[in-house]
Amino acid sequence: MDHLRTTDPSKIDFRSKFELTDKTIIITGGTGLIGRAFCEACAQFGAHVVVVDRGDPEALAQELEIRYGRKMFGYRTDVVNKKEVEQLLEAVLKTFGKVDGLVNAHQNKSHLIFEPFEQVSEDNWDTVVEVNLKGTFLMCQVVGGWMANHGGGSIVNIPSTYSVVAPNQNLYEGTSLGCPAAYSASKGGIDALSRYLASYWASRHVRVNMITPHGVWNNHEERFEANFARFSPMRRLSYNHEVAPALVYLLSDASSYVTGDNLLVEGGWTVW
Ligand SMILES: NC(=O)c1ccc[n+]([C@@H]2O[C@H](COP(=O)([O-])OP(=O)(O)OC[C@H]3O[C@@H](n4cnc5c(N)ncnc54)[C@H](O)[C@@H]3O)[C@@H](O)[C@H]2O)c1
Repeated sequence: MDHLRTTDPSKIDFRSKFELTDKTIIITGGTGLIGRAFCEACAQFGAHVVVVDRGDPEALAQELEIRYGRKMFGYRTDVVNKKEVEQLLEAVLKTFGKVDGLVNAHQNKSHLIFEPFEQVSEDNWDTVVEVNLKGTFLMCQVVGGWMANHGGGSIVNIPSTYSVVAPNQNLYEGTSLGCPAAYSASKGGIDALSRYLASYWASRHVRVNMITPHGVWNNHEERFEANFARFSPMRRLSYNHEVAPALVYLLSDASSYVTGDNLLVEGGWTVW
């Protein structure tokens, strides 16, 4: 987009900078806890949302289409399968003719996610790293590559607090929860990949940023919620609808000069 060459802010419609009107936004993990809030927020700000998931993305896309009276699209895709990712892009271009935004909010939750580090199998490690990191790589390569060749766009990837700091193991005391090393390692890879691409594509107008959510409430066990409150400056978990506004900012023209950033929506977890 063209940027107005002025020092006079009265010439700027700041509210409209946050609009996503008529932008086509692809959101992976779109039916997940945070993905659902991302889809809803983008729809409310005027976007055509492409809900992508391994589960049932069509149902949510239809629901959004009815609610907002605008074309939405649901596409079942396994993000680690390059052929499927290419088919997704093809289908999106056929329907909307362009892509303006890509959000990678998928994640692998292995059934072995809480096993002790000493017992992690190679298969389990590979699965977590493949879905989280390779899935993000393929989506960026295929969709971001298209954007770089067609005037630009905005990509938002999701690392984790646990690629910024190590998990505080006391958080899990007395609970059945935990955080595996493969998760942290895969998320560290997403952070590095995002910074790499921010630099690589900056001159081709593809901005690449990150959102780091933390402790998003999902009917957690009581003890975990109590532990979390003790270690969090804000003394509570967050909600998926508190993460989504950050996405609107990063996808919209409001963040036109922001790239390579990691926006922490973590209630101050890492400040102390
Ligand atoms: N929930 C949190 O507290 C939290 C905290 C920090 C970071 N995150 C990150 O935020 C993102 C969203 O988290 P969430 O809590 O909504 O997760 P979630 O588990 O609720 O949703 C993830 C979605 O990804 C989909 N998915 C899994 N593998 C896939 C594949 N191969 N192809 C396509 N889709 C696939 C799943 O079907 C699911 O709908 C993830 O990257 C997660 O690591 C979450």
